[in-house]
Amino acid sequence: MTRAVFVNGAFVPYEEAKIPVMDRGFLFADGIYEVSAVLNGRLVDSEGHFARLDRSLREIRIANPYGAAEWARLCEELVRRNGLVEGLVYMQVTRGVAERDFAFPKDVAPTVVMFTQPKNISRAPQAEAGVGVITVPDLRWKRRDIKSVSLLPQVLAKQAAAEAGVAEAWMLEDGFITEGGSSTAFIITKDKRIVTRPLSNAVLPGITRLSVMRLAAENSLAVEERLFTLDEAHAAAEAFLTSASMIVTPVVTIDGRPVADGKPGPLTRRLRALYLEMAGAPAAAA
Ligand code: PDD
Repeated sequence: MTRAVFVNGAFVPYEEAKIPVMDRGFLFADGIYEVSAVLNGRLVDSEGHFARLDRSLREIRIANPYGAAEWARLCEELVRRNGLVEGLVYMQVTRGVAERDFAFPKDVAPTVVMFTQPKNISRAPQAEAGVGVITVPDLRWKRRDIKSVSLLPQVLAKQAAAEAGVAEAWMLEDGFITEGGSSTAFIITKDKRIVTRPLSNAVLPGITRLSVMRLAAENSLAVEERLFTLDEAHAAAEAFLTSASMIVTPVVTIDGRPVADGKPGPLTRRLRALYLEMAGAPAAAA
């Protein structure tokens, strides 16, 4: 099957897709993106992703080229054309193409690109075994609530994680964990409270985070939004991360030290199972 991608209103074969050298996404990282999971051929949590995409665009003053219903239709069409059953849809909008100059160009249409990536999400081996994380300083800018394509600090953080043989880097600021390079960080205390950092400009408002918090509340699990330190994470009963690409994944080591007994914890497994159930995915061993 030929890989189809979406570029500026048209579905085209990947090999034929072209973006001009003067695209401001390429020159200035002047753009935003979204990643939404596909499970069982269906988009998961997509309304939240389209809402966050709209918010990111508003915050950097790019007009959203499509409404949520049109984004959904385009994503579904791309999923269908690529025969995607499980994986990711990537969407990116940049300010468009103009001669290089920092201030916004006038009368330029945004560039829109979308592609899919097959990925084993519901039965990923790392969900069974859990993953390790390292900690690194958070080197990012002060508007991390915007899903900007400017990702160099995360590239460096996640390369450090890869070199350490682990899946993610948790970023630290003023002694507190902000979030993962591409995921939200959670710990569960010994008295079974699920803790994650409150939303602010310091973190991306995770869409999976929101669903997990709702599922937790619906199942009478205690959730606490507050800052937490690396010491608290080391002392936690469980830890996990959430993202569109890893849904709910247990964290079993932090900087090489096991979290509790170093095995995925029961509440994390339960939250993962609840998320998969909500997404209508085949129930994986929970
Ligand atoms: N990353 N925090 C950061 C910095 C992220 O980049 C992401 C997502 C999240 C989790 O958000 P969500 O649950 O909405 O996926 C938190 C995506 C998956 C990525 O960059 O590939």
